[in-house]
Amino acid sequence: MSSASPASAAHGEGAPVPATALPCGPLTGRVRVPGDKSVSHRALIFGLFAEGVTEITGLLEGEDVLNTAKACAALGAKVERLGEGHWRVTGVGRHGLSQPDATLDFGNSGTGVRLMMGAVAGQPVTATFDGDASLRRRPMRRVLDPLRQMGVEVLAEAEGGRLPLTLKGSIAPSPLTYESPVPSAQVKSAVLLAGIGAPGSTVVIEREATRDHTERLLAHFGAQVRVEPHGPHGRRVTLEGGAQLKGAPVAVPADPSSAAFPLVAALIVPGSQVILADVMMNDLRTGLIATLKEMGAAIETLATRTEGGESVADLKVSHSRLKGIEVPAHRAPAMIDEYPVLAVAAAFAEGETVMRGLSELRVKESDRLAAVAQGLEMCGVSHEVRGDDLIVRGAAAVRGGGPVATHMDHRIAMAFLVMGLASQDGVSVDDVAFIATSFPSFLPMMRALGAEIRA
Ligand code: S3P
Repeated sequence: MSSASPASAAHGEGAPVPATALPCGPLTGRVRVPGDKSVSHRALIFGLFAEGVTEITGLLEGEDVLNTAKACAALGAKVERLGEGHWRVTGVGRHGLSQPDATLDFGNSGTGVRLMMGAVAGQPVTATFDGDASLRRRPMRRVLDPLRQMGVEVLAEAEGGRLPLTLKGSIAPSPLTYESPVPSAQVKSAVLLAGIGAPGSTVVIEREATRDHTERLLAHFGAQVRVEPHGPHGRRVTLEGGAQLKGAPVAVPADPSSAAFPLVAALIVPGSQVILADVMMNDLRTGLIATLKEMGAAIETLATRTEGGESVADLKVSHSRLKGIEVPAHRAPAMIDEYPVLAVAAAFAEGETVMRGLSELRVKESDRLAAVAQGLEMCGVSHEVRGDDLIVRGAAAVRGGGPVATHMDHRIAMAFLVMGLASQDGVSVDDVAFIATSFPSFLPMMRALGAEIRA
């Protein structure tokens, strides 16, 4: 990479940085949260594969995405930082990936590592993939199984198909029709990325549709991709392999999964009114907004427009009296990263909020179902985990407490800090360092809105 990264290198197991969020007055102001993490990873990876130049604006400069940028450079792309969020990737073309001379370290990022395994699978390259202690615990077989069927060889893997692992890509990957047993955009994307180099059609069938940024960017970079409905909630995605992707500009909208934190904070801190600018409103990412509106949240959608192939809007959010609802399992893929902060909103709602079908939460940066339950327990919130469902019984007043164990998980840290702002005694968390993986400006941005958070 030709320029110094603005954030630190891959976050290892450094000293934890505890923090406390205290009850505060109204949150007010207008903010734009950083660029979408999913689109940022993909823009870099497509730039690597494409022939020519891909210029990216609004790229998220969090540790996860910076690790993907480094991996793209290690695989042969020229990756330049031209200014804040403004990056240029000069790609290597269809068969041009180079042999990396060191392990590719993805830090905390499941998206980075799983998508890059797909990218390498269809190329004559051998690469070793690794990550931090959280990523080493996460399941990789969900990606290795279909990639093996396409011709990738797994030369080494840790117990249970985990990192570190070494893959040898295939010069001639076979096209595959794959029905994923888990609803995962990462699995879908890995198969489609491998399919770029395969002759003929690679098909991914999903019983429940997951975020479709890969499909959109494939089309944007010149591939032929067809998306059809499959059953009541699913999709069938068909990619014609063998095409040469062409570099293309990508404008990354603000990340709805990051916007979720100031959004819920504004809903639960009395008197608040916050405007969140340029939030991506892709239907497969807005499950939290739909859910909160059903709970009675005042979220006004202002100025909807299309930018870079995605629908984008400004959101005006005002403090609201929330009521508990039942969130159906089929909505989970459209809000999978938002359950920790939804649980926080539910703690302040009147009555029970029942969140169904959360098995995938157990394999995120932490076991999020367990981490959320532990945090709620510590803060005096009545709740229950029943199978894969989480039930939160809200109350007008939430005591708070801590220190909540964040388990190397950025979203657990941010969710419980948000809870602290509207609690009686404040909430402390044991480590805010991992927030830099996805939302490095979280603390200053929340403070600028009026939050009191001491680190
Ligand atoms: C992501 C997909 C989701 C999500 C993650 C980002 C992506 O993971 O939790 O934060 O960019 O494809 P799964 O595909 O494992 O559900």
